[in-house]
Amino acid sequence: MEGEIVRLQNIVKSYGKVLALDDVTVAIQHQEIVGLVGDNGAGKSTLIKVLSGATRANSGSIYFKGRPVRIANAQDAIRLGIETIYQDSALVAQLSVARNLFLGREPVRRTGLFPTLDKATMRTETGNLIQQVGITKKIHPDTPITALSGGERQSIAIARAMYFEADLIILDEPTNNLGIEESAGVLRFIREAKAKGHSSIFITHNLHHVFQVVDRIVVMRLGKKVGDVRKADTTIEEIEQVITGMVDSIGMGTA
Ligand SMILES: Nc1ncnc2c1ncn2[C@@H]1O[C@H](COP(=O)(O)OP(=O)(O)OP(=O)(O)O)[C@@H](O)[C@H]1O
Ligand SMILES: [Mg+2]
Repeated sequence: MEGEIVRLQNIVKSYGKVLALDDVTVAIQHQEIVGLVGDNGAGKSTLIKVLSGATRANSGSIYFKGRPVRIANAQDAIRLGIETIYQDSALVAQLSVARNLFLGREPVRRTGLFPTLDKATMRTETGNLIQQVGITKKIHPDTPITALSGGERQSIAIARAMYFEADLIILDEPTNNLGIEESAGVLRFIREAKAKGHSSIFITHNLHHVFQVVDRIVVMRLGKKVGDVRKADTTIEEIEQVITGMVDSIGMGTA
């Protein structure tokens, strides 16, 4: 499959007097990894919140695979195939790894009078999945999320996005506060997701991480998109200059 997965067109979002998004247009292609960068308060999280249904834009349109769509809440986004992964909030701490993986989509057995949770299937599938996403440590499916490190939790959230075949995986600062090894794990998952045909939006302040995995970089500054450039056509130094405003903008032709 080819072509555009999602397009945010002329998105405007204000919080009172703060214009968080000032007429932003961004498109993500099939199997593309886009790095979304910019200083604190630039509008990155607000943009992906519009896309993941966590907030509504004041104006603008969203297209999914070329079709205009309404994303009013998180369910709408998930139904379309958009999974958003935050450092912590994506998982329910009290539940097991297996329960988290199947949250809201649990397999059921219909042998008796009432459908019951198919725990055996959940355990087996969870075991397979943990291996597939490359977690080498032995994690039992019944392990509570609280017993996992930040990076391991991240991996579980990513595994869920991959298992349910999200077309677009959004990661908002997934490598924040992670160790070197855990960060490398997250970057590996993003690459593997791409290899399997998924698209991703990757938000981080770490430009070295960005340059390791993305195809394209979108730069936000004070609510405006000021950069949209293929990684191959730029450098870390140049992106830094656009982020700070030393350079006005870069490569705005693609969307
Ligand atoms: N719920 C809110 N209420 C009021 N203002 C908000 C709200 N959320 C964000 N803002 C403001 O909107 C602007 C954009 O914020 P946003 O969170 O999108 O920035 P960001 O690029 O993700 O920054 P960071 O790198 O610090 O996460 C900022 O000025 C911020 O203070
Ligand atoms: Mg943010």
